[in-house]
Amino acid sequence: MSGRLSGKIAIVTGAGSRGPGLGNGKATALLFAREGAKVLCADQMKERAEETVGLIRGAGGEAFAFTADVTRAAECRAMVKIAVERWGGLDILHNNVGIESRKDLLETPEDEWDRVMAVDLKSMFLATQAAVPAMLSRGGGAVVCVSSIAALRGHGRTAYATAKAGVIGFVRSIAVQLGPKAIRVNAIAPGPVWTPMVEDLGPDARERRRRASPLGTEGTGWDVAWGAVYLASDEARWVTGQTLIIDAGLTLTTREGSLGLPSPGGP
Ligand SMILES: NC(=O)c1ccc[n+]([C@@H]2O[C@H](COP(=O)([O-])OP(=O)(O)OC[C@H]3O[C@@H](n4cnc5c(N)ncnc54)[C@H](O)[C@@H]3O)[C@@H](O)[C@H]2O)c1
Repeated sequence: MSGRLSGKIAIVTGAGSRGPGLGNGKATALLFAREGAKVLCADQMKERAEETVGLIRGAGGEAFAFTADVTRAAECRAMVKIAVERWGGLDILHNNVGIESRKDLLETPEDEWDRVMAVDLKSMFLATQAAVPAMLSRGGGAVVCVSSIAALRGHGRTAYATAKAGVIGFVRSIAVQLGPKAIRVNAIAPGPVWTPMVEDLGPDARERRRRASPLGTEGTGWDVAWGAVYLASDEARWVTGQTLIIDAGLTLTTREGSLGLPSPGGP
């Protein structure tokens, strides 16, 4: 443990993984704890949160599992309350929860649009609204919201790309409001990291995703998690309202097909 988050109290939403392996939320909860934070692992699936907590405790860290659907305001408030009651405050909120929609404009049903907006965007508003009063009573804090490079490039997944762009707008808006109160707010825009969320895309898409970026290597939940450690830590004390792109350089390119979608001329 190198202690970059020593003494901090953190919440990670979606701290479990939807399948075996390592998602972005699980990796972030593990690294936060390894860096010395006490971590409330929130997930709508109890057993997923508990699995992450078990890994943290097994490595000598401190964590607690909490079941919450972060699209519900009352559950977000309960999540913050339990962290404050248990550990005395809150310093870090990592808004990781997100689901995909892979449909284009004409294919997207209204209920799928609404669900993606609720899970990928509204959840961040509700969790942050619940967390800020607790951070204020500690004299400040850090919020990190997981967006996606889908927000930054022309992208066929309409609801997902729109919600993830909304995350960046949300971050910029509240960074200005909360800066004078010593609360920093930043986004991470991961590229096509290989996590349980995308495993159903299959091995061919996995290989296309790997090859698409200038670095040509596969990203994992750890790559996203290290960015989160930085943004959550005091090392980033002068950084707010920013979007940290973690994508092996993919957004620098004009190559297509990199996100596992069939694409004419893609790699
Ligand atoms: N994998 C990629 O290529 C990629 C790329 C860019 C961004 N992202 C983003 O990374 C984040 C997801 O990362 P992950 O790997 O941890 O995903 P994951 O699906 O493995 O885990 C997310 C966890 O969130 C939980 N969850 C879902 N909805 C919830 C809700 N309403 N309330 C509480 N918990 C809920 C799930 O139960 C799951 O355990 C998302 O925001 C996603 O959009 C992923």
